[in-house]
Amino acid sequence: MMPPRAAVPPPAAADPLGDVVCLADLEPLARQVLPPMAYEYVSGGAADELTLRWNVEAFQRIRLRPRVLVAMSEPDTRVTLLGTPLACPILLAPTSYHRLMHPDGELATARGAAAAGVAYVVSTATTTPLDAIAGAADGVRWFQLYPLAERERTRSLVAAAEAAGCRAVCLTVDTPVAGARNREQRARVRLPDGISAPYFHHVIDASNARTRFTPLSWADVAWLRSVTRLPLLLKGVLTGDDAARACEAGVAGIIVSNHGARNLDTVPASIDALPEVADAVGGRVPILLDGGVRRGTDVLKALALGAAAVMIGRPYLYGLAVGGAAGVTRVVELLRSELEAALALTGRPSVAAVDATVLWDAPPGRPLGRPSGRPSGRPFGPSSSEQ
Ligand code: FNR
Repeated sequence: MMPPRAAVPPPAAADPLGDVVCLADLEPLARQVLPPMAYEYVSGGAADELTLRWNVEAFQRIRLRPRVLVAMSEPDTRVTLLGTPLACPILLAPTSYHRLMHPDGELATARGAAAAGVAYVVSTATTTPLDAIAGAADGVRWFQLYPLAERERTRSLVAAAEAAGCRAVCLTVDTPVAGARNREQRARVRLPDGISAPYFHHVIDASNARTRFTPLSWADVAWLRSVTRLPLLLKGVLTGDDAARACEAGVAGIIVSNHGARNLDTVPASIDALPEVADAVGGRVPILLDGGVRRGTDVLKALALGAAAVMIGRPYLYGLAVGGAAGVTRVVELLRSELEAALALTGRPSVAAVDATVLWDAPPGRPLGRPSGRPSGRPFGPSSSEQ
């Protein structure tokens, strides 16, 4: 008689995040699991997608200055932003329609952010109500506002965000109209039946490249400040003039952003706009930056050029698509651990110890105060002949 065969355990379900070692690994995996329309929605930019490429390339051109023999224990990535302590200077940027990426949508994002100890900025175009998101996890949340057509409804929405525990409002000011999002148009992006955006009714319309948003002016900024006690940040500032005006308008912070290159193609990369904004702000309010942050070294470069923190968009959406809450957490942990390594390798024991001297080349208009006799460098990076 044949001896009974040892029961062979079924193969463990493969961990979809198992081989992910950096943020770039997630995009192809997300592309495999997302419906093509959703992938095009997330990955696309405006028009010819030049700024989309520049957002990443501009970081790549900035060179870092290493330091050796700086004994330190693990670098300290903690920061305090608008009075809130955070584990690291990385936030999840507001992005729409998370249930297109994963059935748990914004609930998974909130859980993933809380597990990683980072703040999550909930979009007005959330596909999950604010109170449900609040119930999903204890983490820090802010609210991103696209004002509604009537001020009273906008006021109630901000009050609802405050009641749901959001600690700041980011008013998106760079989207009076949506950009020419040709990839979205070609993919005929729309919300499928069963998924809706309860607060946002400018529903994406692939047939119309210029969907109108509620027009805004500086008077609306003053009005908004008058109807909420929450700190107000402006998201989508790229110029020194607008940043200075925002400070005069009493905002609590500025987010340097080109909307992930989804609106006006051929505006500069966000990181290229940061020095001008930092000069105009002159330390009056904290500056955040998003657009093209893909590496811990990118975070370091943004801090060196005057940002208090960065936000990421697409990378965590790909993480959400691939691994739900765990995918979101993984993205933040990878970026944070790369930031820790970058701090150690540039000899900085903490985020607070980062300044422009971590850069190889002086930022525009700001000498690094190196010993005299050193040839003055080009603004950023090697010339094309060196690349
Ligand atoms: C966005 N972004 C965005 N911004 C905003 O203020 N409100 C929103 O609802 C959205 N929605 C949105 C959806 C998707 C799919 C993307 C990719 C982006 C812009 C976002 O907040 C952020 O500025 C960029 O995503 C940052 O660039 P990276 O990290 O995606 O390169």
